[in-house]
Amino acid sequence: MNSFVLKGDVVFCPTNKRIIAIEDAYIVVRGGICELVYGKLPDDAKDLPLHDYTGKLVMPGMVDLHIHAPQYAYRGLGADMELLDWLEHYAFKEEAKYADLDYADKAYAIFADALHSSATTRAVVFGTIHRKSTKLLMDKLEESGIVSYVGKVNMDRNSPDSLTESTEDSCRRTERFITETSDKYRNTYPIITPRFVPSCTDELLEKLGWLSEQYDVPVQSHLSENPGEIEWARGLCPDSRFYGEVYDRAGLFGNNANTVMAHCVWSGDEEIALMKERGVYIAHCPASNMNVSSGIAPIRRYLSEELRVGLGSDIAGGQSTSIFTAMVEAMQVSRLYWRHIDNTKKPLNFTEVFHMATKGGGQFFGKAGSFERGYEFDAIVIDDSTLPHPQELTLLQRAERAVWLGGDKTGLIAKYVRGTKII
Ligand code: GUN
Ligand code: FE
Repeated sequence: MNSFVLKGDVVFCPTNKRIIAIEDAYIVVRGGICELVYGKLPDDAKDLPLHDYTGKLVMPGMVDLHIHAPQYAYRGLGADMELLDWLEHYAFKEEAKYADLDYADKAYAIFADALHSSATTRAVVFGTIHRKSTKLLMDKLEESGIVSYVGKVNMDRNSPDSLTESTEDSCRRTERFITETSDKYRNTYPIITPRFVPSCTDELLEKLGWLSEQYDVPVQSHLSENPGEIEWARGLCPDSRFYGEVYDRAGLFGNNANTVMAHCVWSGDEEIALMKERGVYIAHCPASNMNVSSGIAPIRRYLSEELRVGLGSDIAGGQSTSIFTAMVEAMQVSRLYWRHIDNTKKPLNFTEVFHMATKGGGQFFGKAGSFERGYEFDAIVIDDSTLPHPQELTLLQRAERAVWLGGDKTGLIAKYVRGTKII
């Protein structure tokens, strides 16, 4: 069952300082789990079926730590406002439509299809406040074959009527969502999803923290993204010393369960120290940070202080689902940060963003995002012959080019999730 040998030009990153590239390598997979990458096929694997991708690039599947499924419908539109206006004018109007299950059915079919055919193998996903359409989203993501955490969003204040629940309804429906979906799927799991501090009362957050602890369910939200948002949150929670403390007091900051916070562009010393202490994952979403004018997250600092960092597309704050694109943008904004903001913060290199896109985010799911022994086998196979070149290139150079030039058209020819071939 799911045991085979995959041959190809293999690239992976066990740490953010080390990238491994081996031509004509053999990855032995047993029961969907990676045994090891070999330069020569070992004798005891010779009887296993061979998936032969000689000459093609083989990398761990890409991990998207932050994406809004309902916003996929208007990606590439409306990048002309700052975050809070953008939410009101675009995001909330689109999300209100998901009260209609027929609309959700159409829109989520397109979304799940897009993720299926992309290089992404794992994603942490926002739905909307609507329990039923979010369950429909989970059905479709399960069918797509990728592994995902999916959240019914919670909002009980400062939101349009169409997206505001009472505190009690929000909690009750979230609890029902968790009990209905926790054991329903093989690859799809619920995640607790307070939208952000401005749209959640303290009482709601506290109850969500309780649910997270009670049911052992992870948490996702937004943190310290945009100056206007942070100012607003400060006014709403004058007793908290910093934004993250509001989540922390409610038990939603890695104190009860795995937690991913999107953005962290403006986190201060205390917030950073607490994220480190609690093992909070940071979803770095460079496209979104540019598009809604939030700023540049200090990722070099997070890496040097050994925080956990992965990448997010943040559709539709970000315009593309491609994590290859997010890798490139992460490198590019880090160069601007170094040039314009702090010349002691060295730009990110290819190894660092490759690690963020694979094992960095993959750890949120357990052993995912690498080809080390014991890791769940998620892989993408890229045919880079569509990018012809007259000169010799090393395998690492080929991988770099595939990422820099790939975008949404990666040349993807095969994709494996937990050892199952889904493309
Ligand atoms: N903060 C609260 N909601 C959102 C959202 O939908 N997108 C982004 N980028 N930030 C948010
Ligand atoms: Fe977001």
